[in-house]
Amino acid sequence: MVASSPSGQAKWSSKTAFILAATGSAVGLGNLWRFPTEAGTNGGGAFVLLYILCVVLIAAPLLLSETLIGRHGQRSTIGSAVHLARQSGASPAWSAMAVLGLIANTLILSFYCVVAGWVVYFIGTSGMGLFEAISGGNALGGAYPEQSPESIREMMPALFANPGLLIGMQSIFVILTILIVARGVKGGIEAAAVWLMPAFFFLLIGITIYAAITGDFARAVNFLFSPDFSRITEPGVMSSALGQAFFSLSLGGGAMIAYGAYASKDTNLGSTSGTIAFADTAVAIIAGLAIFPIVFSVGLQPDAGPTLMFQTLPTAFHLMPGGAIVAFGFFVLAFFAALTSSVSLLEISVGWITEKFGVSRSAAAWGMGLVIFVLGVLSALSFNILADQRPIPFIPGFENAGWFDAFDGITSKLFLPLSGLVTALFIGWVADKKIVNAETGLTGGALSMWRFLVAWLCPLAVTAILVLGMFPQLLG
Ligand code: PFF
Repeated sequence: MVASSPSGQAKWSSKTAFILAATGSAVGLGNLWRFPTEAGTNGGGAFVLLYILCVVLIAAPLLLSETLIGRHGQRSTIGSAVHLARQSGASPAWSAMAVLGLIANTLILSFYCVVAGWVVYFIGTSGMGLFEAISGGNALGGAYPEQSPESIREMMPALFANPGLLIGMQSIFVILTILIVARGVKGGIEAAAVWLMPAFFFLLIGITIYAAITGDFARAVNFLFSPDFSRITEPGVMSSALGQAFFSLSLGGGAMIAYGAYASKDTNLGSTSGTIAFADTAVAIIAGLAIFPIVFSVGLQPDAGPTLMFQTLPTAFHLMPGGAIVAFGFFVLAFFAALTSSVSLLEISVGWITEKFGVSRSAAAWGMGLVIFVLGVLSALSFNILADQRPIPFIPGFENAGWFDAFDGITSKLFLPLSGLVTALFIGWVADKKIVNAETGLTGGALSMWRFLVAWLCPLAVTAILVLGMFPQLLG
């Protein structure tokens, strides 16, 4: 039986609005915080090269697959997957990828709000620093004029040691996300993206120019673009690059199915997916070119890990002229990016709950927001009270991971690629070819190439990387 299209489905007001919202989902802490962290700890150029290959050959084709499932279904992520499966005469069990995705994205949003909470905190501290700089008559001086590099480095550990403060910051961000999603697709999500994304690009370009002028740009370019080829075959680097490609393009969880569902029939999904993938990758690389010159110029190391953005950068901003303004601008930028992504993460479950249970959007947003908040508390507490807990020691590679690392690692390295794998098999082999091909907007060689990548390369490469990531000993 073929279900009829739901009436009253919300729509983006234009193709540009769709591109801005989807790019807003893709561009986020994944680009500003996770990409530099992963590049910094996985050997720089080797990781960047693998990452770009993963985006072009695996993630971008899957981005088109997800948006077309959504646009064709005009329903929630799970509803759209079931719809296409039924229309193709296949088992609705293929929607398993959307179910797995919904779970993955709920977990992602839980720790995402914790990191975004750190951003909120650093907007506060850098804002106070800027105020001190201005009132001290040196508005163009370094960040945190009243502090020493040592005390700046201590801000992050001090925040981590304070569960109340961590949870407080996290809740501010959760509530903002709920309020936007509760206002709906046009009035909330689209309006936020249309205002925040241009502001984001403006700030990013400003900071990159600043980094190029005042920082060690040549060293950063060398670090990001000259690969150490001995690291390219490391399974850990491969699975990190693939996981980052999924995370950064908001794939595998259904965000792009959800946003695709609000796209109008005359939007060419092939070209818009290409634009979104290109914009997201460009932002990641530009962010690297903004962050690493600053880090190198004051003699700091690129491999600090997750604290790079919150410990290394603030210290660098302290030592640099104009750092007070730039530090504040940088954290505001990160906040805008995080918010346009977190709303897409919440929309996935809210869209499904409103469709399935007929509750209001606002009730669904507050209800899911609460679940996400509670799960996030586990991540927040894994830096202090629950620091000794190891939730998934039985999964290879996660023996020593606390709640935060477990949620982050298991979603990006396992759930998202797994869900992406099922999507590739579904679109490449199972779903009705006529429907799928017509939805892509692609023709000729581009269509054949896309079909080849989705049907063959994505499943094979994702499986290989998943297996090697879990069992690196296979490579000897
Ligand atoms: N792509 C976002 C980022 O790079 O920060 C994170 C994200 C959003 C992941 C939406 C998954 C998702 F469904």
